[in-house]
Amino acid sequence: MKVRSATVQKRIESEVIFDTHPEISLDLSRVEEALKKGYSRPFLLVDSNIIRNKIRRFKAAMPRVHPHYAAKANPDPRVLRTLIEEGAGFEIASIAELDLLLSMGVPAAEIYYSNPMKSRAYLEYAAAKGVEWYVLDSIEELHKIVSIKSDAKLYLRIDTPNIGSDWPLAGKFGTHLADIKEIIDEAAHIGADLAGVTFHVGSQCRNPQNWRVGIERAKNVFADMRQAGLRPRLLNIGGGYPVRHVKPIPSIEVIAEVVNAAIADLPADIRVMAEPGRYLVSDSACFVCRVVGTATRNGKRWMYWDAGIFGGIIEVSEGLRYEILTNRQGNKIPWSIAGPTCDSVDVLMHDEPLPDDIQEGDFIFIPNAGAYTTAYASNFNGFPLPDVIVL
Ligand SMILES: Cc1ncc(COP(=O)(O)O)c(C=O)c1O
Repeated sequence: MKVRSATVQKRIESEVIFDTHPEISLDLSRVEEALKKGYSRPFLLVDSNIIRNKIRRFKAAMPRVHPHYAAKANPDPRVLRTLIEEGAGFEIASIAELDLLLSMGVPAAEIYYSNPMKSRAYLEYAAAKGVEWYVLDSIEELHKIVSIKSDAKLYLRIDTPNIGSDWPLAGKFGTHLADIKEIIDEAAHIGADLAGVTFHVGSQCRNPQNWRVGIERAKNVFADMRQAGLRPRLLNIGGGYPVRHVKPIPSIEVIAEVVNAAIADLPADIRVMAEPGRYLVSDSACFVCRVVGTATRNGKRWMYWDAGIFGGIIEVSEGLRYEILTNRQGNKIPWSIAGPTCDSVDVLMHDEPLPDDIQEGDFIFIPNAGAYTTAYASNFNGFPLPDVIVL
């Protein structure tokens, strides 16, 4: 009896957390229409109205949090234009992204340089173009930035749990809790304007509590900063907001409840921002590719697509699972799926249940694939980059 009630309780909790608000995806009839115009290579079909709806929904859910789009998720100029029109700020990883945004009229002050490791040449360029805010997560980067721009406004990227994130980002970046004090003391000692804290909960984060922990840690860092004579005034809660694929996700409204409660007691002079990437663009687009051929190898069914790991479908390599649609109705059997290149790394999935009657020439539709697909694609082996069509 006890076991049963615990199960019921667990089910209720997960119903409360997950799938509480409707998610909207690109209407597949638009894809059918686009295909009537012909097909020459894989493409991403983007509906910019969905991007508009997503950023409006993000702002409505977290009114105090300014969204700065992570340009890396999809840097197509038409996507950027839509977000500029919606009043987004931006987060960049490189000066190519900076140049693109400046050329589109985004003020340098709205662009945050959130890559924790920047070359001297890139820093000099960004400083000359007027970028004000720079992230760091080490003493070395602190000295490097300040040696180039002594009045830079700095924010510290701290380590935070990535539990429950489908694309974890911890480890490579983020000051370990034990090292934070040393960086704060050094910043105060050299007169650097260390004024903010950021963290990244991991991309496609399905655990809202990661944001709570990150914000609590940031508040402790603010206290340490004040004690050292620094003047904290930025909380950047990073990216990570998930979109629907095959696993249940917490809606932005559910994440917002956690975030809004955690930031409620922050002083008014602390600007709160976020760096959503995936959340703003994924649902707006469907990735379309085609079956180049099928084969049976030692009793196993294989299909080869004209886009694989190198053609934009790289996130499967860390276990992200997409919904895959076809026009076939056959019985589901386990397929191995690979891209068109000769590289053995170019295998997307094994044991993916898909119709047994899939054949050469069939189209494959991957909904909610507007982020981290075309942005990653290369033309390795001479295969063309996927096209991007924006409605
Ligand atoms: C510094 C930084 N901010 C924001 C993002 C965007 O994350 P997401 O697309 O999960 O929202 C990333 C992604 O890698 C990142 O590195």
